[in-house]
Amino acid sequence: MSYQARRCLVRGSLNIDEFFYVQDVVRPGQTISSTKFERRAGGKGANQAVAVARAGGDVSLVGAVGEDGTWLVRNLEGYGVSTANISVVQEVTGRAIIQLTPQGENCISGLAQGGKLRPSNLPNDVERHLTGISHLLLQNEIPWASTLAYLEHAHARGIVTIFNPSPVPADAQLHAFPWAALSWLIVNEGEADSLHRVIGGNSGNHKVEEYPVNWPDDNIVRLAFSTLNNLRHGEHLASTSVVCTLGAAGVLASIRGLEDVLYFPAAALEGDVRDTTGAGDCLTGYFVAGLMEFRNKQLSEDEAAGLLRLSVQAAGMCVEKDGAMESIPERVVVDARLS
Ligand code: ADP
Ligand code: NA
Repeated sequence: MSYQARRCLVRGSLNIDEFFYVQDVVRPGQTISSTKFERRAGGKGANQAVAVARAGGDVSLVGAVGEDGTWLVRNLEGYGVSTANISVVQEVTGRAIIQLTPQGENCISGLAQGGKLRPSNLPNDVERHLTGISHLLLQNEIPWASTLAYLEHAHARGIVTIFNPSPVPADAQLHAFPWAALSWLIVNEGEADSLHRVIGGNSGNHKVEEYPVNWPDDNIVRLAFSTLNNLRHGEHLASTSVVCTLGAAGVLASIRGLEDVLYFPAAALEGDVRDTTGAGDCLTGYFVAGLMEFRNKQLSEDEAAGLLRLSVQAAGMCVEKDGAMESIPERVVVDARLS
């Protein structure tokens, strides 16, 4: 029996998030002291890699940290992420300085290390990183040239490619993006809307799809359904499947080879929403780990529904807890909640 290993490469960001708990966010010229300080591992690349690992997927992260970020690398190893391709360079790690008030106000200043902390994008390195990889997962917190280099090489090798365009790329970048190289696009409703504005299909070009009668009477879902239909019938996403997350309203998916858009409500929570940070990353990682179990084959509607159910349940458990990376649940507890 021939067995081709499935392994996910995440080329993405690793950051240090520093939280300062303050009575009020600081004003110009003011000095205030904090009541509490917390340092957490972050970055969408790191969060999503952890989610793939917690979901049971074999995953490696390509990125860079400064010498102040070696604890972050050890953290990732603890979660089961392969860190052999993370370089430690003589710079400071990218970070976000976040002021949080008791009223829930926040104020964030960031240090994007983009240029300095970039591992090499030389074709030889990209090819080496992609050797033995079945799935490539990208976000938009690294230099654009890197994203394009990994995507194009991966596509040429027949690797399944997944892109979470967060933060949303510039209009010109979206216009010139090699959409044909992209297998899966994972967006939230805001990102879907931005993409639609820039690369949306002409809604006059296709039959307007009726909102399914058995779906919830919810404007968020209605609006996203219409956006997604325009995107999926447009020229750019002709070969790309799309997952669109809708916060507490759940998730929509347009999957190539399946006739209808799928809808899944958000998971029922045990208790209150505590912290939605990282929910999208959790859903993305779980979804990709689930995809890896199906190899490259066309998903049936039942398989796709199972995958969404798993991902939505994991994301729901993530919002039940504080933090982003540290609130991503393990597969066994997600499975237990589903059964
Ligand atoms: P992002 O953080 O990227 O904006 P979303 O807010 O859409 O992503 O959240 C991603 C997923 O997390 C949702 O599709 C949903 O499954 C889950 N989720 C988010 N907020 C809630 C909530 N309040 N209750 C239950 N699930 C939630
Ligand atoms: Na959380």
